Amino acid sequence: MSAPNKSYDPVEVEALKPEEIERMRDEALAAFAAAADLDALREAKTAHMGDRSPLALANREIGALPPQAKAEAGKRVGMARGAVNKAMAARQAELEAERDARVLVEEAVDVTLPYDRVPAGARHPLTTFMERVEDIFVSMGYEVAEGPEVEAEWFNFDALNFTPDHPARAMQDTFFVAGPKKAETGVVLRTHTSPVQIRSMLDREPPLYIVCPGRVYRTDELDATHTPVFHQIELLAIDEGLTMTDLKGTIEHMARALFGEGLETRLRPAYFPFTEPSAELDMQCYVCRGASVGNPERPCRTCSSEGWIELGGCGMVNPRVLVAAGIDPEKYSGFAFGFGIERMLMFRHNVEDMRDMVEGDVRFTRPFGMEI
Ligand code: PHE
Repeated sequence: MSAPNKSYDPVEVEALKPEEIERMRDEALAAFAAAADLDALREAKTAHMGDRSPLALANREIGALPPQAKAEAGKRVGMARGAVNKAMAARQAELEAERDARVLVEEAVDVTLPYDRVPAGARHPLTTFMERVEDIFVSMGYEVAEGPEVEAEWFNFDALNFTPDHPARAMQDTFFVAGPKKAETGVVLRTHTSPVQIRSMLDREPPLYIVCPGRVYRTDELDATHTPVFHQIELLAIDEGLTMTDLKGTIEHMARALFGEGLETRLRPAYFPFTEPSAELDMQCYVCRGASVGNPERPCRTCSSEGWIELGGCGMVNPRVLVAAGIDPEKYSGFAFGFGIERMLMFRHNVEDMRDMVEGDVRFTRPFGMEI
């Protein structure tokens, strides 16, 4: 700070001379204009507006002036500082706008570019569909059971009341497991999930409510409607007083849960050695709901205009099977049901070629959703 001012003339104080103030102001304005970016501007701001800037120091000199001189000097310094503040703010806004515009360009993301992220894996629709069916029965109190895919003939056939000369035992259907020198081993790749019925009955005491999903094998060529390896779901209920009505009600519940409300089911007489009586179970076609029958104008590809879709085989457990599994047929009765998962999935999703399900091409599986 200068020595006490004797003339009371602000002009006499060097730092408060009008030219000095103007010079300080102009230097500040020039520095702001010259600042090329926000960092440079910040420096210029400290130099020209900070506590130790010439204008701030000049401002302090005012305090030393006699009262009558203070007003004019104060006004001069104040106006200069006001102009400097304004110029700084204007330059700051300008530089910020420039920076924002640059960031928008530099950091722009082209959302149309192909991405190279590794796609997440998902389970096959056959697996997720099987689980959905399982869930339907588990929610009714059924237990999930499993059995081996390489199975003793006794479980796969004998215990299920297949006589030794039953056609299903012939070579064209069954993969037999050969021993050394092709000797017979009494072991087969299971041709259906029904052997798990026997295993479950031997394992547990009735009442029994079992659902068994699994892979099965038959010596079919792979084509649009056959595959040598496919999946079935087996259902077995053993309790006191079970009848065909329980079977039908249970299956109707499943059909509703999978295909929606209002579809009829019907039982057609059939033959399986391990059920008596036996039936094929049909469900009304969920696509045309029967409207295509006798109506050439509206053919239905899903049911070939027959109005019905065959879901699988079923029936009341043959008492001979109960006996083979050590269950008293006088006390207990039961029903069983088995159907092919691939067929069911084909109907439900209008899949035309079974090979698509086997080949594992993600272009087929992706539309089913990427459920994990
Ligand atoms: N296991 C039979 C098949 O593979 C289906 C079936 C299961 C039939 C249960 C009746 C009862 O064809």
